[in-house]
Amino acid sequence: METLRLKDNKEGITAAAEILKADGIVAMPTETVYGLAASAYSNTAIAKVFSAKGRPQDNPLIVHISDMEMLSSVVGEFPATAKVLAQKFWPGPLTMVLPKGEKIASSVSAGLSTVAVRMPSNPVARELIRVGGLPLAAPSANLSGSPSPTSYHHVITDLDGRINAVIMSGECEVGLESTVVSLAATPPRLLRPGFITAEQLKEVIPNLVIDKAVLEELQKGEKAASPGMMYKHYSPKTEVFLVEAEKAEFISFVNSNENCAAICFSEEKDKIKVPVLTLGEEDSAEAQAKNLFGLLRESDNLKVKTVYVHAPKKDGVGLAVYNRLIRAAGFKVIKL
Ligand code: TXA
Ligand code: MG
Repeated sequence: METLRLKDNKEGITAAAEILKADGIVAMPTETVYGLAASAYSNTAIAKVFSAKGRPQDNPLIVHISDMEMLSSVVGEFPATAKVLAQKFWPGPLTMVLPKGEKIASSVSAGLSTVAVRMPSNPVARELIRVGGLPLAAPSANLSGSPSPTSYHHVITDLDGRINAVIMSGECEVGLESTVVSLAATPPRLLRPGFITAEQLKEVIPNLVIDKAVLEELQKGEKAASPGMMYKHYSPKTEVFLVEAEKAEFISFVNSNENCAAICFSEEKDKIKVPVLTLGEEDSAEAQAKNLFGLLRESDNLKVKTVYVHAPKKDGVGLAVYNRLIRAAGFKVIKL
């Protein structure tokens, strides 16, 4: 199929909304990453999303809403804690898992009794949902397994010819997917860390539990609370290793290796003699979040066998950066 290139203006958004109403699939910008949107009411449309991405059928999607009125058609219940979180963090990069409403297509939740929902802050996404009058299910608009797209160019690289249209908008401000918290679990559980941090959530939910799968590989037979956390993810073609080390150790480690590249902090760049990409300053997890997926894609252009990534700190937004990196590395960590 031909993938239409649409502008992020009124005309483009109207055209995209028409495609979505006719059960088509459209890549849209959000503040986190580009999403591949489809009507959350339509099993037919959702089937196209799974097929275009090559996504495993048991990995449920996030539903995006434009205002609080739309929420009642998405969730079965909206408990008091969810209201507080919505007031504090919506519109924005927080997804809540709640009991599923009846109108939502069963394939959105991969047959689960819960649904993941968020209200994006990106104005183009919100306008598209509003004009279409539909809650939109949207996973990241990449081929399953590859790094999530933070620009429309990444979407085109992965999905040109496989989707009906892409809205050509700006680069995503956050650069990592939303924080996912399950309020259907007791006590509430952080399933995927993101720009809204565990520390921020704990101010509202003091008994929040951080799911084991956030930082560790699940063993065979262990069941994932969030199916998406099971799969190898975000991986470029080049083999990635995460390296936990002090700055000087990291620098001498990469410099003594062959056929490799480094993804490092800005402070280290000048001392590294192999091809190098810069994640951001060590203390700026926000910058690292924004750069990470683009760099993982770029690392394939360096034509080296391995890329060593200097592991970031695991607090605040750093926890989200670390969570994506350890998956990109297929849980291969070198501790120096
Ligand atoms: O920022 C984002 O969340 C982006 C943009 C497009 O909004 N979307 C995104 O979707 O990252 P996706 O499909 O790549 O990730 C959805 C995550 C997966 O890890 C999935 O397992 C989890 O949310 N999820 C969805 N529904 C769930 C449910 N009912 N229970 C538990 N986990 C769920
Ligand atoms: Mg994804």
